[in-house]
Amino acid sequence: MKVTVIGTGYVGLVTGVCLAEVGNEVFCLDLDRRKIEQLDPGHVPIYEQGLEDLVRRNRAAGRLVFSTDVAASVSHGEIQFIAVGTPPGADGSADLGHVLAAARNIGRHMDGFKVVVDKSTVPVGTGDKVRKVIAEELRSRGRDAGRAAFTVVSNPEFLKEGAAIEDFMRPDRIVIGVDGDASGERGLQAMRALYAPFNRRLDRTLVMGVRSAEFTKYAANAMLATRISFMNEMANLADRVGADIESVRRGIGADPRIGYDFLYAGTGYGGSCFPKDLKALRRTAAEHGTEMKVLGAVEAVNDAQKRVLVEKIVARFGARLEGRTFAVWGLAFKPNTDDMREAPSRVVIAELLKRGAALRLFDPVALAEARKAIESDLAGRADDLARLTWCASQNDALQGADALVIVTEWKSFRSPDLQALRAALKEPVILDGRNLFDPAAMKAAGFEYLAVGRSLAPPDADPA
Ligand SMILES: NC(=O)c1ccc[n+]([C@@H]2O[C@H](COP(=O)([O-])OP(=O)(O)OC[C@H]3O[C@@H](n4cnc5c(N)ncnc54)[C@H](O)[C@@H]3O)[C@@H](O)[C@H]2O)c1
Repeated sequence: MKVTVIGTGYVGLVTGVCLAEVGNEVFCLDLDRRKIEQLDPGHVPIYEQGLEDLVRRNRAAGRLVFSTDVAASVSHGEIQFIAVGTPPGADGSADLGHVLAAARNIGRHMDGFKVVVDKSTVPVGTGDKVRKVIAEELRSRGRDAGRAAFTVVSNPEFLKEGAAIEDFMRPDRIVIGVDGDASGERGLQAMRALYAPFNRRLDRTLVMGVRSAEFTKYAANAMLATRISFMNEMANLADRVGADIESVRRGIGADPRIGYDFLYAGTGYGGSCFPKDLKALRRTAAEHGTEMKVLGAVEAVNDAQKRVLVEKIVARFGARLEGRTFAVWGLAFKPNTDDMREAPSRVVIAELLKRGAALRLFDPVALAEARKAIESDLAGRADDLARLTWCASQNDALQGADALVIVTEWKSFRSPDLQALRAALKEPVILDGRNLFDPAAMKAAGFEYLAVGRSLAPPDADPA
């Protein structure tokens, strides 16, 4: 099939490449000329495992084109995916500027029936707005703007950065929201045909109305964020009462109604989705005269949790950290990505600098992105910037540091050479924001190990 994907970010690029991989002819449009100039020769500007190989293979096979040519992109595909950013506006609502601009471009250039697919995460009712701007453009050209001219489908994306290709190729569900008329049916048939290669073992398509599909994406992210904040709140209390949150996690996860997934305590969620999607959903509720009380608490807990490592550092080393140096392992908002949007590391770094500390920073993949993000956070604060050292290896980061702070759970941090670690640090102190290690084993290895929800009171210490 001929497909156009508008926006070549984390979602659009993965969508385009995976659709090309199963044999479709895919036209990827982006207005960011620099991005397209990188992508065209096969260089992927983001880090996502396996993505670059797929881009190169499908480009070479002639199934994948990158361009900034809007008119050509509209004429290419009967299916037009909108996969552009929906960043938070000043009031927390999703900024639909990019989505509506993309829709307007479709209306301006289309000639013949189009299935316009909202893949961006958009608030309930966006489908109607997309329909309206396309119809306006068609009418201004004297064209038919009715249901026979185009249909708007909602197809929210559930991929996880770091496992995006796998998630797209083997989705746990494909949500398709369509109108209940002939035009919607035509859109549904096109989407079913497009997704058939991903549904061979089991059809995972869930068909619903456009509004329900839009809502499903927000509800899913809200639920996931709630689990994280719930566990973080539990962990903070576990620290106070001398219980071990890892034992508690196993104890509650065994209940199939709860399950083990997404129950880890840590230093808070970040990334491009949960923070903005929760804000947008709360905003939608406010616009409809109601309040999402649970989600307000989820956000408040998360904001506080991003500071939990700093509180532990202050409790251990004091509020004034001048003359102290900390090694920081992990800067991306989660492992296997270089995405720094809303990363907890940004808060940890700013708070430690504020207290006078010097920092030796390392991330296996996100160092360049982290540098851009953190230098922009600290713009104009030359004194703070001068106390940052960007390190080429995790061992390099440890040299001369008072303690190690772990913010992101990259695999390469899980089994460090403890002897070398102890030798490199001035004091054998590890502040672990991701609970990577067994506290008893770390104690036996001579470390003072401060994790999240794991400071067992000695009489109640759980046997290993
Ligand atoms: N990143 C994720 O893990 C993820 C997962 C699921 C859903 N989503 C949602 O998918 C959407 C896209 O997210 P992302 O992370 O890929 O964003 P992104 O910021 O990485 O990429 C968006 C791209 O769209 C381009 N763009 C903007 N306006 C355009 C236009 N009019 N025409 C052509 N290109 C245009 C930008 O230049 C940019 O390259 C968002 O709504 C997001 O919430 C993201």
